[in-house]
Amino acid sequence: ASTLGAAAAQSGRYFGTAIASGRLGDSAYTTIAGREFNMVTPENEMKIDATEPQQGQFNFSAGDQVYNWAVSHGMQVRGHTLAWHNQQPGWMQSLSGSALRQAMINHINGVMAHYKGKLAYWDVVNEAFADDGSGGRRDSNLQRTGNDWIEVAFRTARAADPNVKLCYNDYNIENWNAAKTQGVYNMVKDFKSRGVPIDCVGFQSHFNSGDPYNSNFRTTLQNFAALGVDVAITELDIQGASPTTYANVTNDCLAVSRCVGITVWGVRDSDSWRSGDTPLLFDGNGNKKAAYTAVLNAL
Ligand code: XIL
Repeated sequence: ASTLGAAAAQSGRYFGTAIASGRLGDSAYTTIAGREFNMVTPENEMKIDATEPQQGQFNFSAGDQVYNWAVSHGMQVRGHTLAWHNQQPGWMQSLSGSALRQAMINHINGVMAHYKGKLAYWDVVNEAFADDGSGGRRDSNLQRTGNDWIEVAFRTARAADPNVKLCYNDYNIENWNAAKTQGVYNMVKDFKSRGVPIDCVGFQSHFNSGDPYNSNFRTTLQNFAALGVDVAITELDIQGASPTTYANVTNDCLAVSRCVGITVWGVRDSDSWRSGDTPLLFDGNGNKKAAYTAVLNAL
């Protein structure tokens, strides 16, 4: 196969990218994206501040732009994200307690109703665990509504759209030996044992020198999959874009039957949220980098 999407499809997987609505007018960008990928995650357009800028007033214009672009190019869409401590609109940041809990539920219902039946996956909850080595939850306004906020979000989501796959998504949970990884693993295990609806876990995989790729990532993917969830690499970018590391990550996914696909977090280095790290598969001129070839050959 001569594109990432077609190569991933050979094993029944997808290869996706984050798409930014603001770049859809850039034909160099849309040419590469339209050719190479078959799954799209809206980079910012389905986040809480974008979809519910005023409480109870939903706005799907940017989200629909990305959705329509993807579908018109034969791609599937991964919704991102319904409950998160970041990119909350001002009104939500100022809520707490039962008012915030109810606002989260209303938000999930409002956004999921609009996209009902249209998406392949939803990141229902994003980044709920702490980075402090405790393996516990991150402090946030949502966490302060009660420890059950995550399972409430998933139960609400299942009722709102029974056919979309519901995912928990986080970063720095790739290394099996990290406390944060264990914390998320134990949550998923608990959810599975109690029948809380969860279908998948997304490993963001933003690798850099402080949080590098570790070869036990494959073990992590295998162990989560063994709990009965799909796993996916959802926001891959690698500081410096080492071809070896990109190939290793690709091979880790291919080694796990329930690893459904890989999404890179942008098209060209110049599109990246951390463009100074040149972490992606295409350079700023749209040329394929060595990392691109390494991934394509691994797939
Ligand atoms: C980032 C976007 O790429 C930026 O454009 C935005 O300014 C901030 O958010 N984890 C996530 C993504 O789940 O939503 C984040 O995306 C990157 C880290």
